Amino acid sequence: MDSIWIKGGQRLEGKIPISGAKNAALTLLPCALLTDEKLTLGNLPRLADVDSFGHLLNQLGVSTMIEGVKKGEIGRRMTLQAAEIASTIAPYDMVRKMRASILVLGPMLARAGEATVSLPGGCAIGDRPIDLHLQALEALGADIEHAAGYVKASAPKGRLAGGDFSFPVVSVGATENALMAAVLAKGRSQLFNAAREPEIVDLCNLLVAMGGQIEGIGSGHLIIDGVEGLHGTAYEVMPDRIEAGSYACAAGITGGSIDLIGARPDDMLAITNALAHAGLIVEFHDKGIKVSADGKLKPLALSTAPFPGFPTDMQAQFMAMLSLAEGESFLEETIFENRYMHVPELRRMGANIEVRGRSALVHGVEGLTGAAVMATDLRASMSLVLAGLAADAETEVLRVYHLDRGYERLEEKLSAVGATIERRTSG
Ligand code: UD1
Repeated sequence: MDSIWIKGGQRLEGKIPISGAKNAALTLLPCALLTDEKLTLGNLPRLADVDSFGHLLNQLGVSTMIEGVKKGEIGRRMTLQAAEIASTIAPYDMVRKMRASILVLGPMLARAGEATVSLPGGCAIGDRPIDLHLQALEALGADIEHAAGYVKASAPKGRLAGGDFSFPVVSVGATENALMAAVLAKGRSQLFNAAREPEIVDLCNLLVAMGGQIEGIGSGHLIIDGVEGLHGTAYEVMPDRIEAGSYACAAGITGGSIDLIGARPDDMLAITNALAHAGLIVEFHDKGIKVSADGKLKPLALSTAPFPGFPTDMQAQFMAMLSLAEGESFLEETIFENRYMHVPELRRMGANIEVRGRSALVHGVEGLTGAAVMATDLRASMSLVLAGLAADAETEVLRVYHLDRGYERLEEKLSAVGATIERRTSG
């Protein structure tokens, strides 16, 4: 099994190109189901999750063609075509591997009039139910049935009517599923308290480029006028704000300076504000964002929240960085329960962190020590890589498949800014 080996202690300096956003890619790919024409997506990150999503779409009858990439080029281009939907079933073995598979539900229902998707089951960072996805689709006119671990959604007379839904809790995935279903409905739909994440804006922009009619893009009130059909297009995936934020923390934790090429300031204000409050110098320029350390890190109080708040997907990386700040930081996780699984591993590296329910108190320490560590989710794994970059001696991060789900060419990108890091394969 592969592991990532790091010799910590180097100050990182240089440029890192930011890849296309994983979470945007995972909602843009299922849009191929909404038309029989070709959809070409550029700047797709080369990640295990993107590959898995491609395989799922293949099972549903979507053809996928990947264009070759030149050496050293990041991202890739994929042309997808769902000339016909061959199957409307997303099976358990796919959904179990990748929870985002649930995002085929809305578009399949809209295009084929029915969709059957396995229930995702438990997940490492909390319960993660799909009740809001189903309630939103019901409000758009779908009939929902549950049987043997699967949920079947169908549209009476083959087409959704459209309707209004107010989300009791902001949900990124449920907003995405509802949007992809509503674009092909008969009438008007309104989504209230919709998620406003930049990835939702990316999805809306693609749907509009395909001929969809959506108003209120970027707000919590989306108005969608259903159309008869959508057409193909070519579209570039937005840059990954979480990848960019993670490498910003690498600059912070190593006392270095990293230029995040391609990062978009408007998508990341909560992150860049937090970096600035932690004492880092943040410079916005026309090609991206440069983040540089300026003396000791300062402690922070941070609470995760839906966009434009501080993202839950950055909590673990900030926790690693703040474990070396001068003083006590307070972190609160409001989106997912059970998202502190990196804490015991960070403690093994010398961090001083107390967890009380959904809050964590991080007492800054002078230094971290290398260790063999492993995490059970993607962002938690990245927090261990960050700690390893700052630790004395060697760190081995096990279960690399988590990192491969969300960080394109991690070792290459970090080596290029001066880290001693490599992938090792054993057994
Ligand atoms: C997406 C992101 C994930 C990010 C999360 C929050 C993708 C592929 N994943 O996940 O990286 O951490 O947004 O920004 O884009 N909830 C319900 N019922 C539902 C759906 C959600 O109760 O039907 C709850 C969840 O348990 C959670 C909260 O709503 O407490 C927010 O979850 P949601 O925004 O839906 O997260 P995902 O779309 O799964």
